[in-house]
Amino acid sequence: MTGTAVTLDLDGFTGIRSDLIPILQHAQDSLGYITEEAVRQISQKIRITENEIYGVATFYAQFRFEPPGEHHIQVCMGTACHVKGGQQLSVSLEYQLDAKMGETTLDGKYDLEQVACLGCCALAPVVKIDETIHSQLTVLKLRKVFDEDEES
Ligand code: FES
Repeated sequence: MTGTAVTLDLDGFTGIRSDLIPILQHAQDSLGYITEEAVRQISQKIRITENEIYGVATFYAQFRFEPPGEHHIQVCMGTACHVKGGQQLSVSLEYQLDAKMGETTLDGKYDLEQVACLGCCALAPVVKIDETIHSQLTVLKLRKVFDEDEES
């Protein structure tokens, strides 16, 4: 795990155990991910062990322990997208970017994530890259999106 010495502002929290999830969300929003130093500070603030904090935080997919990638890729695995090839898109992306879903590419450029419905089922299958929805994709079309990005 990666650490940083950035100090979290936890003044707005009372320090009770039930603050744990809101504090973790605050840490991730502030720092981009849950750092080792953040876990130490949280442990002191609400007086539970760092192991307990990791135990809780790793249970929730929303928390990450590595710096986020430059670009966030969401592959829709909702029913409409799944039926129209979402899984093939997912596998193809993992292969092309050499990273698994839930991981960041080694160069730190992309995060990969599978998500439930992105809310535009009529355009299925879709992949969202940052704020842009790429619709009615095929493996080839998706490949081109990244090839063009590499060229620019
Ligand atoms: S299932 Fe993919 S956008 Fe709804």
